[in-house]
Amino acid sequence: MGGFAWVTLVTNDSYSLGALVLAHSLRRVRTQHDLAVLITPGVTESMREKLASIFTLVQEVNLLDSKDQENLEVLRRSELGITFTKLHCWRLVQYDKCIFIDADTLVIRNCDELFEREELSAAPDVGWPDCFNSGVFVFRPSQETFNSLMRFAANKGSFDGADQGLLNMYFSDWAHKDMSKHLPFIYNMCSTATYSYASAYRQYGENVRIVHFIGATKPWLLYFDTVTGIVHPPPGCNHLQPLLQIWWNIFCDNVHSQLTNTMGGLAGALSKLTLGECRTDEQQAIEDHIRKQNWEQGYIDFMGRDSFDNILKKINETLATAPGITSPITEIEESQENSNNRVEIQEIAVESKPISPGTLN
Ligand code: UDP
Ligand code: GLC
Ligand code: MN
Repeated sequence: MGGFAWVTLVTNDSYSLGALVLAHSLRRVRTQHDLAVLITPGVTESMREKLASIFTLVQEVNLLDSKDQENLEVLRRSELGITFTKLHCWRLVQYDKCIFIDADTLVIRNCDELFEREELSAAPDVGWPDCFNSGVFVFRPSQETFNSLMRFAANKGSFDGADQGLLNMYFSDWAHKDMSKHLPFIYNMCSTATYSYASAYRQYGENVRIVHFIGATKPWLLYFDTVTGIVHPPPGCNHLQPLLQIWWNIFCDNVHSQLTNTMGGLAGALSKLTLGECRTDEQQAIEDHIRKQNWEQGYIDFMGRDSFDNILKKINETLATAPGITSPITEIEESQENSNNRVEIQEIAVESKPISPGTLN
């Protein structure tokens, strides 16, 4: 087949919201290339249909989990062991070259020139710039590389318990060998305010091509006013408001009407909301429910209902009245010609210490 593709990954319907917005952002900047999404069994049928309406390829793969809680705790993202599932992207051998791109990114301008780069090209990580950030990287699909990465994972593990640690250990000469594999930061602008970031953002922000909303507070979890259509950025991130607003504008224009109540997670809940109209009591109740769910999962809506002032107000109100929420792979797995030699990967358990390759299924 040949050709190039942008590839993302989603393991559930909430992250699928990110993938849908990302896909529309890529179409909006008129990419010339295919859009592929890797999905796992946790994505509902109704969400698969919607993904298929914008992505060229929806490919089901098995979940790969590092199960390395010890290292994930250091990263403070215990849920990211499953990002090992990203490795399946190397199995898309129908393409010559691809760019993996996280579902929590937004493409602001056409970046098709990235396909001129070679494997493994990526931008520096903000936390440790001698490592690359694995939210955006150029790679060449290859069954051999995939097998080799799987062996490596089983033998060496990953220093952060997730894909970024593993890929930096595997492509270990990235920091010093070939500068053409260092992508400029504007191709993966990680939205985290660290020392020196604010001044640089003021100077270079307008050149940004790909924004990456890293960290636990994703655009779809922020306080969005359904009446005014304005999104409120998290504390200390006011400069990101225009970028978060682009995310929500695409969501409102292209994604919201596609959501149904048969979808899971936040996608199902958001399908029940109306946008741009006065809030009914029912809508208010749904919004309260979404916030309660987000709160319970540890996503606190700092600027909106969960802001300190609001929490204090609630406490005071309460005191004053005292006493008183595997199925068919489209191309690869179902095609007859591949079914004999396909690699079956089940869950893998990569322990924090190296384990023998024999434990891989
Ligand atoms: N991901 C997913 N389901 C999850 C967590 C992550 O599908 O529950 C995928 C998704 O493509 C996501 C990527 O893995 O963008 C990496 O995770 P995340 O973006 O949350 O990590 P961060 O960039 O914040 O470190
Ligand atoms: C990083 C990357 C993300 C990756 C995660 C875990 O912050 O942005 O793509 O999945 O670390 O390694
Ligand atoms: Mn990310």
